[in-house]
Amino acid sequence: MSTLSLPRRPRRLRVSPAVRDLVRETEVRVADLVWPLFVSEKVTAPTPVSSMPGVAQLPLDALIDAAVHAHRDDGIRAVLLFGVPAKKDEQASGAWADDGIVQRAVRTLKKAAPKLFVITDVCLCEYTSHGHCGVVHSRDNGGFHVHNDESVEILARTAVSHAAAGADLVAPSDMMDGRIGAIRAALDARGFSETPIMSYAAKFASAFYGPFREAAEGAPQFGDRRTYQMDPANAREALREVELDLEESADLVMVKPGLPYLDILWRVKERFQRPTAVYNVSGEYAMLKAAAAHGWLDERAAVMEQMTAFRRAGADLILTYWARDVARWLRAGSV
Ligand code: PBG
Repeated sequence: MSTLSLPRRPRRLRVSPAVRDLVRETEVRVADLVWPLFVSEKVTAPTPVSSMPGVAQLPLDALIDAAVHAHRDDGIRAVLLFGVPAKKDEQASGAWADDGIVQRAVRTLKKAAPKLFVITDVCLCEYTSHGHCGVVHSRDNGGFHVHNDESVEILARTAVSHAAAGADLVAPSDMMDGRIGAIRAALDARGFSETPIMSYAAKFASAFYGPFREAAEGAPQFGDRRTYQMDPANAREALREVELDLEESADLVMVKPGLPYLDILWRVKERFQRPTAVYNVSGEYAMLKAAAAHGWLDERAAVMEQMTAFRRAGADLILTYWARDVARWLRAGSV
C-alpha cells in the first residue's frame, strides 16, 4: 500500500507541551536581549514617559540602580544607553564631552556591574538644539541640509568618547554615509581596536519612533529625517546599506523598526549571515501596551509571540523595552 494514501497528521507533534518543546525550531533566550535605558541630566527622580508605560527617564543614580537590579535579579546581560543632556547646541557638544551624561553613566555602571555589557547609542539628535542627527546647514531658499561629513566627524569623536568611558560596544544610529568606516578608524587610532560596532544599518524613516522622541527629547524641531533615514518602501536599498556597513567593518548590523520590517530582517540574515540585531521600537511597544491596558490583548502572550517572530525571521539579538519582563517570563516557565 502506498504511504501516500495514509492521512497526514502534523498534529501528532502538537499533542503535549513535552512534544511541542522537543520539536520547537526557535528559542528566545535572555542572553539575546538588550534593554534600552534613558539617562537624563535634567531629572532628579524617575520621570515616566507618558507614551511608553513602564519606561522612565532616569537620573544617574536610578539608572545604575535599575541596570544593576535587572542584571542581578533578572539576568539581563546587556543594556543600551541613551542620554538626555541638560544643554543642547548646534554642534552637539554634549554628545562627545568627557563628562557628558552617557560617558558618566558608562563609567559608573561599569564600576557597579563590571559584567553587564554596556552598549551606547551613538547619535547627535538628543544633543543638537535642532534635533537632527547631524550638523545642519541652512540653505538660501529657507530649507536646510544635514551635512554628511561634518556629522561623521562628530559621530566618530562621540564613539571614541564612549569607548574611552568604557563602553563595551558602540551603536551608531544616525544613518550618515561612511560613518562606520570613520568610527572604526577613529577607534583604532585611539587604541580601541577591540571595541565592536553595531550599525543601525537598515534604519527606516518610521512613524514608529514617535514615543522614543518624547523619551529621548530628540524630535527634530523642523523638517524630518527622510534625507538620511531610509524610505520604508525600499528593501533592495536596505541590503545595499547593510553591505556597505559590513564593508566598512561593522561587526553587527541592525534592522529597525522590527515588526513592520520582518521581511528586511529575513533578507539581511539570509544574504549576509552575519550577527543581526532587530530593534523592537518605541511605537511597537506603545501600541501593544495600549491594547493590553484596554484588555484587548494578553501582553505576555503577544510579546512572547513577537519575540519568537524576531528570532524566526533571523534576529540573533533583540533590543526591546520588554527585555526585563521577557527575562522574568522566561524564568517563570513556558508561556
Ligand atoms: C536616534 C534614535 C532613534 C531611535 C533610536 N535611536 C530615534 C530616531 O531616529 O528618530 C528610535 C528608538 C525607538 O523608537 O524605540 N537617532
